[in-house]
Amino acid sequence: MRRLGVLLSGRGSNFEAIARAIGEGRLEAAIAVVISNKAEAAGLETARLMGFSAVAIPSKGVERARHDALVADELERHGVDLVCLAGYMRLLTPALIKRYPERILNIHPSLLPAFPGLDAQKQAWEHGVRVAGCTVHLVNEALDAGPIVMQAAVPVLETDTIESLSHRILAEEHRIYSQAIARVLRGGWRVDGRRIVWE
Ligand code: GAR
Repeated sequence: MRRLGVLLSGRGSNFEAIARAIGEGRLEAAIAVVISNKAEAAGLETARLMGFSAVAIPSKGVERARHDALVADELERHGVDLVCLAGYMRLLTPALIKRYPERILNIHPSLLPAFPGLDAQKQAWEHGVRVAGCTVHLVNEALDAGPIVMQAAVPVLETDTIESLSHRILAEEHRIYSQAIARVLRGGWRVDGRRIVWE
C-alpha cells in the first residue's frame, strides 16, 4: 500500500476528499500523516478526529529551508511515498523538493498557467474568464508551475457569483485530485520538459 503525506494550511476539504476516495475504494493508498504549518488549521483537527496522525510543524518565525527540512523529516518518519499538498499555502524550497523528487503533487484552483498564486478563483472571476477550473501538478521550486498531471474545466455561468463559481471549482478539485493521485501512483509516466508523458 502506497503511503501519502498530506500537507495543509487551512480548511482541509481536499484532504477529506482524498480520505473519502480511499474509504470508498476509489484510491488504493493510505494516508500516513497529515502535516500543517499552522497548529490551528481546521483540517488538522479533522484529521485528528478521523484518527490519522496529525502533526503541526509551525512555520512562523522559522527559516523556510529549516521548516521544509523538518517537514521532510516527519514525512520520512512516516514512510511517505507521495506528498499531496492540499491547500498548503507555502512555496517549497529544495530542502523538501530534493527529498521527494517528482513525488510532490499540488492542487490549484485555476487552469494553470493562468492565475497562479493566492485567490486564483477571484483572479479568474475578475479577469472575466468564460472557463475556469482547477489543476493538479507536480511541484517544483516555482509557484504553481510544475508539470501538469490533470485539469478540469468549469464553465462560468451568467448567473454565477464568485462564491458559486468557487464552489463548483472546489467540487471539481475534490473529484480530480484523488484521480490524479491514483494515476501518478500507477506509474508508467515520465517527465519530458514541461510535459508528463504517459507510457
Ligand atoms: C483549495 O481551493 C486549493 O486548490 C487551494 O486552497 C484551497 C484549500 O481548500 N490551493 C491553492 O490555492 C494553492 N495555490 P481546502 O483546505 O478546503 O482543501
